[in-house]
Amino acid sequence: MIAWYSMKELKFSDKKVLDLIKKEEKRQQEDINLIPSENYVSKAVREATASVFTNKYSEGYPYKRYYAGNKWVDEIETLAIERAKKLFGVKFVNVQGYSGSPANLAIYFALLNPGDPITGLYLPHGGHLTHGWDVNFSAKYYKPVQYTVDLKTERIDYENLRKITKKHKPKMIWVGATAYPRIFEWEKFQKISKEIGAYLIADISHIAGLIIAGVHPSPVGIADVIMTTTHKTLRGPRGAMIMTNDVDIAKKIDRAIFPGLQGGPHDHTTAAIAVALKEASTPQFKKYGVQIVKNAKVLAETLSSGGLRLVSGGTDNHLILIDLGTNGPTGKDISLALEECGIITNKNTVPSETRKPFVTSGIRLGTPAVTTRGMKEKEMKKIGGLIVKVINNISNQKIYKEVKKEVLSLTSKFLVP
Ligand SMILES: Cc1ncc(COP(=O)(O)O)c(C=O)c1O
Repeated sequence: MIAWYSMKELKFSDKKVLDLIKKEEKRQQEDINLIPSENYVSKAVREATASVFTNKYSEGYPYKRYYAGNKWVDEIETLAIERAKKLFGVKFVNVQGYSGSPANLAIYFALLNPGDPITGLYLPHGGHLTHGWDVNFSAKYYKPVQYTVDLKTERIDYENLRKITKKHKPKMIWVGATAYPRIFEWEKFQKISKEIGAYLIADISHIAGLIIAGVHPSPVGIADVIMTTTHKTLRGPRGAMIMTNDVDIAKKIDRAIFPGLQGGPHDHTTAAIAVALKEASTPQFKKYGVQIVKNAKVLAETLSSGGLRLVSGGTDNHLILIDLGTNGPTGKDISLALEECGIITNKNTVPSETRKPFVTSGIRLGTPAVTTRGMKEKEMKKIGGLIVKVINNISNQKIYKEVKKEVLSLTSKFLVP
């Protein structure tokens, strides 16, 4: 982390903000972060994010701008695009999306008309809001029918998807998730989308880093469009990239981002994306991605052998979903109890959910952030044991104190970058 004491200007100009930054730095150092969508970026990524590129306006695309003074912005955006093309093996990349949800909106806007039918994974079964959930724009402006997981295996039910697509003829099939612990079988989705001539969109936000590391199959050459956020397993700044091999789709995506939906790109973020992509192309990053999955497997095994039920029985990727059942403590209770002990997770719906989304019967955990800190299998066993201990001793302050002490001892040995 860029330590608070190096923030010389802030010290004089805004002590309140500096104080909150210091507190957040301390919290991040002391807690065990198991939120699967979070990570710790490198100092280099943070330096680029804090650079003077934040001062510039650059509506348009490299070498075709509406404002003067974009000589270096053109170079930085081109660098980010070229690095992404090489890393993912794709032909066209747009790096201007402000974040994952706006980038997904741009994909709809580029390729569909309002009211068109679409399908995405049912949110309580792991899908994302932007894949057709009822409160989201994707359901207000398009017509979603959602596919599900098989409630016995808790894996995607491809037959159910085929039936839905045959009946409702969606023009777009979204594949991607926020809480699905298994591999996406891209070829099966491709076959179904080809049968009805729908666009296949791979939202790899959670798994981009795993794809680069070769521990999750890649949708490149299969999906028509690929979107990834840049801040999850990819370990870059908060942003998004949209990729495709189809020149016509690429043109439509560019027009949808600008001038369709956004104004000036966040050039400081583009600079930091370029840095993160360079980091992601190193052998160390591959090792990192492999270790994320190894860690998740050991954590899952420890939780299972501690008597907890995991959705689908385990994990193939970076995340784990604990099903707490319908009696006893809820996801909300457990996430608050774990937070008291310094273990950060989130409450999450499970496939057979009976409770409200703000309460839930599940806990979602992931290993990208702890793996960045250098934790390995040994630490996963320790953390898994602590989680089981808290769940078995809910409201027991003596146990919470013991666990908190162990958390502090563990995190003091693994610094946040
Ligand atoms: C699969 C998936 N797509 C899209 C998004 C949206 O990204 P953002 O939060 O940057 O808008 C997320 C975020 O959690 C996600 O998990």
